[in-house]
Amino acid sequence: HSVTRPRSFLDLSDHSGEELRRILEIARSLKARRVKGVEPQERPLAGKYLGMVFDKPSTRTRVSFDVAMRDLGGETIMLTGAEMQLGRGETIADTARVLSRFLDAIMIRILSHDDLVDLGRYATIPVINGLTKFSHPCQVMADVLTFEERLGPIEGRTVAWSGDANNVLASWIHAAARLGFTINVATPAELAPSAEIVAWAKANGAAVNLMRDAYEAVAGADAVITDCWVSMGDADEEFRRAALAPYQVDAKLMRAAAKHAVFMHCLPAHRGEEVTEEVIDGPQSVVFDEAENRLHVQKGVLCWCLAPGQA
Ligand code: CP
Ligand code: NVA
Repeated sequence: HSVTRPRSFLDLSDHSGEELRRILEIARSLKARRVKGVEPQERPLAGKYLGMVFDKPSTRTRVSFDVAMRDLGGETIMLTGAEMQLGRGETIADTARVLSRFLDAIMIRILSHDDLVDLGRYATIPVINGLTKFSHPCQVMADVLTFEERLGPIEGRTVAWSGDANNVLASWIHAAARLGFTINVATPAELAPSAEIVAWAKANGAAVNLMRDAYEAVAGADAVITDCWVSMGDADEEFRRAALAPYQVDAKLMRAAAKHAVFMHCLPAHRGEEVTEEVIDGPQSVVFDEAENRLHVQKGVLCWCLAPGQA
């Protein structure tokens, strides 16, 4: 018999632009109701249980998923890799099969992207990527929502990345292809996007321009984006700080972007490293809107995964 696969959210590349738009629409509409102080009429996820597995630290992802699930009427169970038998060698496949018998969905933060994909393969419930070393799709959905709130539709626009080619950038590249915008990427040669993501961008018609010079990347851009220089799981801290120093986003770099440009950062930030205090605390910065929008986007993702009838 045919088995319908659960609706997982592992990477933006797995979804059509239309699907991503649908999730953003749910997020926007639930946000509008919350902002107006209207208690949501229905609780579309009542009786549903979300297991949240954190193998690495988190503030935003953890709290936003927890509040999102409860706001929608569901329940959450917080798990850490170290406290589970996973930490003693139980396989991802068996963990997926067992959790699927208890829960309605799993959100996981784990460095190994292969482990995430394995979990999705063996689970019979939706699996949501809460960050891996490869990608951070929920973050970039929140970032796109934030961009559009400030500047209108992102389609046809240009965003610029200055810094390390990390997991957040990979999801931005996926989004560029699916939602039809251009991304200029300035990185040092040694910390440039992987061959894998470059090949994906090429095969999927993403407008990605790889550069060395941050000024060239931000020229006229609608958004200037960066992230930390040392991500979870990175070695070579000293090398990274030296190589990435020319990519710091400061007021001078912001002036090279469009006048209306926003500054974006997924947080946590390191003031004085990848961004100056003046920029992150300045008028162009939308970093706390991005953080808030994590909540609204998680709701969109949860409804899409768990209430397909309504999403
Ligand atoms: N931006 C982000 O994912 O933050 P946390 O690590 O706090 O979840
Ligand atoms: N690139 C960062 C994002 C943290 C939310 C990391 O992976 O550590």
